[in-house]
Amino acid sequence: MAQAQARYDEFAEWYEQWIGDAPPLIAAQAGLLPAVAGKRVLDIGCGQGRMSRYLARLGAEVAGVDISAAMLGKARALGPEHITYIHADVTRHPAWWDGRPFDGCTCELALMDIDDLAGTLSTVTAVLRPGGWLVASIVHPCFPGSERGRSSWPPGEGYECEGWWTSPDHNPGGVRIRVGATHRKLSTVLNALLDAGLEAERFVEPPAPVPTYLLWRCRRR
Ligand SMILES: C[S@@+](CC[C@H](N)C(=O)[O-])C[C@H]1O[C@@H](n2cnc3c(N)ncnc32)[C@H](O)[C@@H]1O
Repeated sequence: MAQAQARYDEFAEWYEQWIGDAPPLIAAQAGLLPAVAGKRVLDIGCGQGRMSRYLARLGAEVAGVDISAAMLGKARALGPEHITYIHADVTRHPAWWDGRPFDGCTCELALMDIDDLAGTLSTVTAVLRPGGWLVASIVHPCFPGSERGRSSWPPGEGYECEGWWTSPDHNPGGVRIRVGATHRKLSTVLNALLDAGLEAERFVEPPAPVPTYLLWRCRRR
C-alpha cells in the first residue's frame, strides 16, 4: 500500500468552519456506543476532534489519532487539554502506542478517507483489549445518496468501482470534491472486519430518503 497522504492539511481551516462541533452521527444512534465513562477510547481519524470531545464530555479517557497535522492543530486549540492527540498514520504498526489496551475505538466518517482498511483494522485489533469494541460510521456504500449526502462511488461510475476517487461533479459544498474518497463495496467492508478478527454486533442505517450512512459496532474476539 502506498504511503498515506495527509489530504486534509490543505482544508483544515475550511473543515473546521464547515463542521464545527456538529454532533457526530455515532452520538445520534441510541444504544450503538457502549458506556464510555472511565473507559480508554481511541478516536481514529479524529480530525479537529469533535468526536473526541464528545467522548471526553461523556467521561472517557480519550486519545485521538490523525495523519493531518493541520487538523490536529485545530483539535489541540479547541481543547480540552486532557485529550491526547497523536500525529500518526493509523494504517501502520502503532509505534506510538504505549501498550495500554483500549476498551474501545471510534471512527466517525473517516474510513472513506483512509486508503488502507486492512491496515487500519489491524491497528484496531492490536490496541483493543479482547472483547473491546469498534464503533464506526461511513457513507453508505450501497445507495446513490440524496441531497443530504452523495454516493460513496464516483459520479458517473457505479457500485463496482472501488478505490480512491475525486471528481469536480460531487456535492460542491462538501468534503468529497475537495479531498476525494475511497469507495468499497459492502462485502469488502464486511470481509475486512471478519478477516481482522472482529465480530459484528449491530448495524444501523439512519432513516433518510434512501440510506445515506451505515454505522456498526463490532468486537475483538
Ligand atoms: C472526514 S475527516 C473526519 C474527522 C472527524 N472524525 C469528524 O467526524 O469530524 C477524516 C479524517 O481522517 C484522517 N485520515 C485520513 N487518512 C488517515 C490515516 N491513514 N491515518 C490517520 N488519519 C487519517 C484525515 O486526516 C481526516 O482528519
